[in-house]
Amino acid sequence: MEKIPASEITPEHLYFTRRQFIAAASAVAAGALLSACGVPSPPPTARPTIAQPSPQASKGVDELGDKLTPFDTITNYNNFYEFSLDKEDVAPRAKDFKTSPWTVQVGGLVNKPRTFGLEDLLKFEQEERIYRLRCVEAWSMVIPWLGFPLSKLLAQVEPQSKAKYVRFETLLDPKQMPGQRDSYFDWPYVEGLRLDEAMHDLTILATGLYGKPLPPQDGAPIRLVVPWKYGFKSIKSIVKIDLVEAMPISFWMESAPNEYGFYANVNPDVSHPRWSQATERRIGEFSRRKTILFNGYADQVAPLYAGMDLRKNF
Ligand code: MTE
Repeated sequence: MEKIPASEITPEHLYFTRRQFIAAASAVAAGALLSACGVPSPPPTARPTIAQPSPQASKGVDELGDKLTPFDTITNYNNFYEFSLDKEDVAPRAKDFKTSPWTVQVGGLVNKPRTFGLEDLLKFEQEERIYRLRCVEAWSMVIPWLGFPLSKLLAQVEPQSKAKYVRFETLLDPKQMPGQRDSYFDWPYVEGLRLDEAMHDLTILATGLYGKPLPPQDGAPIRLVVPWKYGFKSIKSIVKIDLVEAMPISFWMESAPNEYGFYANVNPDVSHPRWSQATERRIGEFSRRKTILFNGYADQVAPLYAGMDLRKNF
């Protein structure tokens, strides 16, 4: 697999959080650069592959005509800090991660709180969709996800009118997830969406990619995919979803508040404090390409942000 220059792979995530400074400095000094995406693993469960490739997937492109990133790349170069900060070390470390049995508890401001078993969730998995995932800030991949709209799950629990946001939580299990034994970060990993973003058709809970069950390193058995946002919003291995009134503080807002906001919409005009977001490197390509507002989904999602200053709400 090609090597990505260290400057492009987000090692800087840790640098500016006071709480983490010393730990981060020693990790970086030791050459442990933080990283995200790496050897296909066997499917985590023995369930059959049910999806047929979509028309786009069978042509090897996404719905915008962009070439799909190969399966081996998607599954061997990962960000999943619970397993490793080294993108190519996540897959080997996650290979024995137990993803069955698995439940997702959905509650908070809802009329019908419910705990869904993986079987229930797989029943919702009716369609395969192709989305581009802007993986981190400086690079991207195009991934044919298999999943179902999050709105389908939320409809089952009947959100109350007071619910304004959705808060997601990853499994907390330091025995299986060695990264959680380090106190650099506040575990578990948390993410959030505004309720209308969560209800948007493009927002999916993914259970597979390339028509196969998700491998552990990509967030098995179920992860979020929000195709118009930067990849860090796509929380992996979800066990809890709560409807809440106040904006959730995400893992990255907590870890580096000056660098990561709540919205994380892909936006070439809003630079990260330490690098421009005007261009990105598609994994597998040599030259950089221009980043597109909302990752190419402006027609569908721009109305969600009408009247908002996207420089402030980054
Ligand atoms: N979810 C959890 N629980 N832990 C993580 O470290 N990393 C995020 C996101 N979801 C992360 C996570 C980041 S920074 C990115 S870029 C994407 O997952 C990467 O997804 P991929 O490895 O499947 O490409």
